[in-house]
Amino acid sequence: MHYIRFLKQPRLLPSASAPNQVSAKITITTDLGESFCFETVPLCALLEIDASGSTSGGGAWRTLASADIVWAAKDGYTGVEVIIPAPNLARLRHGRVRMVVKARSDSLDVSAFENCWVQAAEETSGVVAVRSMAINLRPHAEQRPAIQALAERVFHAHGKELHIWEEAGESIARHIWYGPGPRDAGLILSSYLSFFSPLSSESGKVYSPPELPLLQTTLQKEEFQVLELGAGCGIVGISLATFFPEAKQVILTDLPEASEILTHNVSLLPSPTNSKISHQVLDWSLPLPTNIQNTRWDLVLVADCTYNPDVVPDLVKALGRLTEPGKAEALVVVAMKVRHESEAVFFDLMQDAGFVVKEKAKVPLEVLGADSEEIEIFGFMRG
Ligand SMILES: C[S@@+](CC[C@H](N)C(=O)[O-])C[C@H]1O[C@@H](n2cnc3c(N)ncnc32)[C@H](O)[C@@H]1O
Repeated sequence: MHYIRFLKQPRLLPSASAPNQVSAKITITTDLGESFCFETVPLCALLEIDASGSTSGGGAWRTLASADIVWAAKDGYTGVEVIIPAPNLARLRHGRVRMVVKARSDSLDVSAFENCWVQAAEETSGVVAVRSMAINLRPHAEQRPAIQALAERVFHAHGKELHIWEEAGESIARHIWYGPGPRDAGLILSSYLSFFSPLSSESGKVYSPPELPLLQTTLQKEEFQVLELGAGCGIVGISLATFFPEAKQVILTDLPEASEILTHNVSLLPSPTNSKISHQVLDWSLPLPTNIQNTRWDLVLVADCTYNPDVVPDLVKALGRLTEPGKAEALVVVAMKVRHESEAVFFDLMQDAGFVVKEKAKVPLEVLGADSEEIEIFGFMRG
């Protein structure tokens, strides 16, 4: 899958000759940002306005102006300038304005989780759209320092929308490991979970994902408790809490660096989802926090956390502590995109720790202009 990202946040052009244009620079990369999109992709950039007076979340957004742009393979090295003329911006006294950049073709859209399965079945690719923060409309406004810039991804299923914010600094490199934007494995696991939601209508299911019976049985329990490790921006746990009213408690965990973005994303959740979801620091290399150690987890979710062999031993130790003999039989669900042979160490360590792969599924993932990939989802249990 590919992700549109802002290399330069949208801003009102300060030039006197073009006072009413909003400019940004975007790139299209893979989930880790380690490779650009080497295919031509027609894009559409929209300037949207919310005149509702809301200052956070929600709002009533409508399109103010738009521009078509084309991403070409060569653009990877420089990014593409997006310029949207917006003559009526000068008259704007109130309201928020943001930029949305998305693929022009609906078939590339992945905002509807269902499309992940349509794309998997039809062997087509996805490009994830991006939304900016509210743009500062003062002509000579200082650019936000990169560290403070956020960008939003929006996904939906069964009439519910997920708003997942991520850091959007100008250096994608620092986001490779801790860079809590959604990744392919997290996105596919989220859409997989949403497929089995009791909120889904059977008639809407055109394509079926592969079966994972133990996971499906857990999701059908009258009540269940879920812990996510290495949650990043929180897309997986937030999806679960949103699409499964039966989830009694969902705790998203990560290192302290992710707390700010997790707090933000959890704070946007509507009631009653927000009453059962929370986040907490859990460092795999340290003893478990007492409340987490003392809870009988039904499901432990781990997405895209296994590709750094340096920290995998700590991850396996944390999973071991969570499923110590005498505790409830938690199902540990691990979603990953195998990127390198060195990742096999995860499976060796899991086996040494007494975990058995009880079920697994593969989801094919086409990538525009590159070789196809695969997301694998494993269900592990102890003993
Ligand atoms: C590649 S990201 C995956 C994020 C998210 N699960 C997803 O799929 O979008 C890996 C996550 O593992 C977290 N992580 C790395 N080392 C960790 C540790 N020792 N303890 C807890 N979390 C850790 C990182 O902070 C990062 O958020």
